[in-house]
Amino acid sequence: MALFVTFEGLDGSGKSTHLERAARWLSESGVPHVVTREPGGTELGGAIRQVFLDRRFQGMDGTIELLLVFASRRQHLLEVIEPALAAGRHVLCDRFTDSTRAYQGAGRGVAEEVIDRVDLLATGGRCPDRTLLFDLPAEVARRRGHSAPRRRSGGVDRLDAEELDFYQRVRDGFLALAARDPKRFRVIDSLGSLESTAAAVRAALADLVEPTR
Ligand code: TMP
Repeated sequence: MALFVTFEGLDGSGKSTHLERAARWLSESGVPHVVTREPGGTELGGAIRQVFLDRRFQGMDGTIELLLVFASRRQHLLEVIEPALAAGRHVLCDRFTDSTRAYQGAGRGVAEEVIDRVDLLATGGRCPDRTLLFDLPAEVARRRGHSAPRRRSGGVDRLDAEELDFYQRVRDGFLALAARDPKRFRVIDSLGSLESTAAAVRAALADLVEPTR
């Protein structure tokens, strides 16, 4: 059965690099899969992503953010995720609703019941089969997200520019989600070397390459 696998963590946690590596490994092993991300993954999602990350829109509150990410997510599920799974391809997705619960919920203070209601409307409460959470201290993630090359290339977006206590609340939010659903989550220490983190990712996805009989 095709699995819906999500990669989650703070900006600067290395999840996107590890998603790329995992996808390369699946390709080399001949495992059918699709790589995608949120906000984004479709033409509409890409347009929403641009608005969402644009530093001109500093006044956007958590509820506006919530509505934007779920609009992108609904289109993404309908156009990309569900069709891929139905065709027997694993889906590796960079962020999904756990990011909304961590960033808009824990980070911005949007109530959990509000997120649940919008989630039900937009996705029917669709949940990933497995979630890899790349964890590292908030100050390290923020420093990496603000690296000099990233600033020079204009790569620091609206959320990267948030203060350290926001990063801390988001990290705590992610860890609380993982504690609540230990069967779905694999918490991966992202502080060690690239190789040790990559090995942990391969261990978390080993059954995709060598399904147990
Ligand atoms: P990315 O840089 O990992 O692609 O993520 C873009 C930003 O969007 C990142 O700062 C986290 C944020 N985000 C939310 O705040 N809520 C969400 O639901 C998603 C999917 C992303």
